[in-house]
Amino acid sequence: MIDFKQKIAEMIANTIEFDKQELEKYIEKPKSNTNGDYAFPCFRLAKTLKKAPQAIAEEIKENLKIDETIIEKVEVVGGFINFYVNKETLAKEVLTEMDKSEEYGKSTLGNGKNIVIDFSAPNIAKPFHIGHLRSTVIGGALSAIYKYLGYNVTGVNHLGDYGTQFGKMIEGYKMWGDEYDIENDPINELTKIYIRINNLCKEDEEVLNRCRENFKKLEEGDEYCTNLWNRFKDLSLKEFQRVYDLLGTKFESWNGEAFYSDKMDEVIDILEKSGKLKDSQGTKIIEMKDENVAPLIVIKSNGSTTYATRDLAAVLYRTRTYDFDKALYVVSYEQALHFRQLFEAAQYLGIPEKQLKGLEHVQFGMVQLKTGKMSTREGNVVKLEDLLNEAIKRAGIIIEEKNPNLEDKEDVAKKVGVGAVVFNDLANNRIKDEIFDWDEILNFQGETGPYIQYTYVRTKSVVEKAGGVPDIKDINFDVLTDSYSKNVLKLMYNFEETLIQVTEKNEPSILSRYLIDLAKAFSSFYNENKIIVDDSSVQNARVYLTYAVGQVLKIGAKLLGIEMPNKM
Ligand code: ARG
Repeated sequence: MIDFKQKIAEMIANTIEFDKQELEKYIEKPKSNTNGDYAFPCFRLAKTLKKAPQAIAEEIKENLKIDETIIEKVEVVGGFINFYVNKETLAKEVLTEMDKSEEYGKSTLGNGKNIVIDFSAPNIAKPFHIGHLRSTVIGGALSAIYKYLGYNVTGVNHLGDYGTQFGKMIEGYKMWGDEYDIENDPINELTKIYIRINNLCKEDEEVLNRCRENFKKLEEGDEYCTNLWNRFKDLSLKEFQRVYDLLGTKFESWNGEAFYSDKMDEVIDILEKSGKLKDSQGTKIIEMKDENVAPLIVIKSNGSTTYATRDLAAVLYRTRTYDFDKALYVVSYEQALHFRQLFEAAQYLGIPEKQLKGLEHVQFGMVQLKTGKMSTREGNVVKLEDLLNEAIKRAGIIIEEKNPNLEDKEDVAKKVGVGAVVFNDLANNRIKDEIFDWDEILNFQGETGPYIQYTYVRTKSVVEKAGGVPDIKDINFDVLTDSYSKNVLKLMYNFEETLIQVTEKNEPSILSRYLIDLAKAFSSFYNENKIIVDDSSVQNARVYLTYAVGQVLKIGAKLLGIEMPNKM
């Protein structure tokens, strides 16, 4: 497609002595349509040119050689030069591009650069809760978007499958295993065992010692302990997999914490040699440069390693294995301190500057039910699988009311229910805490997943009514120059740039917002313009535009992890 920004920069560069690239960076996209599609703020040049912005604007405008097939109008307003793109060209550019492939907006911009995304990461034998959902959904969206832009993405599920608690689990299972049905309901039953053994450990030092012994044996590869641990892990993974199947989540690597059990010695060795590992009351720590920040504990007083030690080993491993440009950790803001400590300590591992700079904690806020908090500590956990199934059930009820004769009702309910939950997780700035309210997330008229799906389905039915997608050769782009069409086309023109912005900020909500804006712009277009009309030239153009909107909604939703039903 024509790069309008670049063209405008070229036009301006021909009137003044100034670096073209620099000029291009200054060009803005005004929020309001009455200020043009692009605006050049002349105050940026005022210092260098030693003139008032308004005077610069007038002068540039005077000397501009305008290609009218690209820019149809230029205005000076205050110190700004506002540019209006040629509407027909805009329509032609966007729709012709759409015609070229099913993958509108896809690019090779990432140039195969390596991105590691650590996301989801639930803990074995513990519930997959709604906090893990956010990580799974945000990480999954980022992973898909980076891939679409040509990056080489490694999505890692850094499972919590290691630590002294497994010594306890093994002991508990040894003592009471046959009382629990861990085959049928693994996580619930294992959690019960864990709570019971934990309580016993508090009373009985002897039991606690046996638990410690189990963990040691596990580390040494003892057969009985390893087999049990593997069984806990397999059973838990089976349960997690049901959730991943519902969400369509995939990972390139399943290396969890246990994977690093034999890789921590080297880390400790490197840190020892760097002189940064300090003894402190029996533990070994790394102090932070800012003494107000707590030190990172690398070895506990009982000699065992920590969550952080494993993360240090993972940084080293990922550096060597993936030579990453960015390594993102999609984890709740509750772990902000951990990642701050980790990234500072990583400096002493002797890894290249590129990798140190690429480490980023992509934090997100908490999820709260409208009726109250849900947290692991208070035992008020909402299991994600239950939540998703509830969403599907509720979506099913709504669909039954609205469209009782719909085919494939179950499949549609699944897409709408899951889509509603996923979209809700991505709808706002990730750092914001989120309130989970059933009525809101399933509102077909609200700023929701179902609203986007509903708009998509509408585009499908319009195209169907018209007898299919018209041939691009039969499109008269001049038909699409009214303000409603233009709004839609402008948004579609910005699709790829929107995806790029997502990767710059690691903020999928930029895409969610965009899809809402596009759906709304389409609704206005649809309400203001009759699509199915006698004049076939008008009809073809409007139907094609409708089809194109559907495509962008579908591609965008898919990148967020939301499937589109064909009818609903
Ligand atoms: N398992 C951890 C939890 O549930 C999250 C792990 C995040 N990833 C990491 N490399 N620390 O809190």
